[in-house]
Amino acid sequence: MHLAANQANFAKTINFNKKNNLIQMNANIGIPEKNIDQCTKILSIVLADEITLYTKTRKFHWNVSGNSFMELHQLFEKQYTALEKIIDEVAERINKLGRNTIGTMKEFGELTNLKETPGKYPAQKDMLTELLKDHETVIKELRKNIETCEEEIKDAGTTDFLTGIMKEHETFAWILRRYLS
Ligand SMILES: [Fe+2]
Repeated sequence: MHLAANQANFAKTINFNKKNNLIQMNANIGIPEKNIDQCTKILSIVLADEITLYTKTRKFHWNVSGNSFMELHQLFEKQYTALEKIIDEVAERINKLGRNTIGTMKEFGELTNLKETPGKYPAQKDMLTELLKDHETVIKELRKNIETCEEEIKDAGTTDFLTGIMKEHETFAWILRRYLS
């Protein structure tokens, strides 16, 4: 994934926050500031991925058609509703570390590892395949981030938090895979 590119974008975002004097009161929770910086960077990219996947799932909920219309319309609704809850938890985890949470479509678009396809309306099976691929990308990114949080950042709270989210994505991916097999 284009991690280098989204890290450069993140640096721009942080400068924006500093310039506008939006840095929050530090959280005195036993994690060094530079580790909190690194953790905020990871969580901001996770947030961008979750919002992008939420939007893609919602687009497919609106546009699915064909013989399994109602089944998939409802499946996608169930998944985007669960993603919405994850989004809020990720955003608030950043606040709990004492940092500001990004919240514009521009920033999400710059940071995400996932690709959107404006103007494209895939067939049922291709929607399922695309969402499965995205969940698998998110799982792989989370797995790397969990390792970094545990071994380098040494933030047990975020390690545990991201592990919980990864398991939820494994469930989403399993369900999508079943429709395709
Ligand atoms: Fe709806």
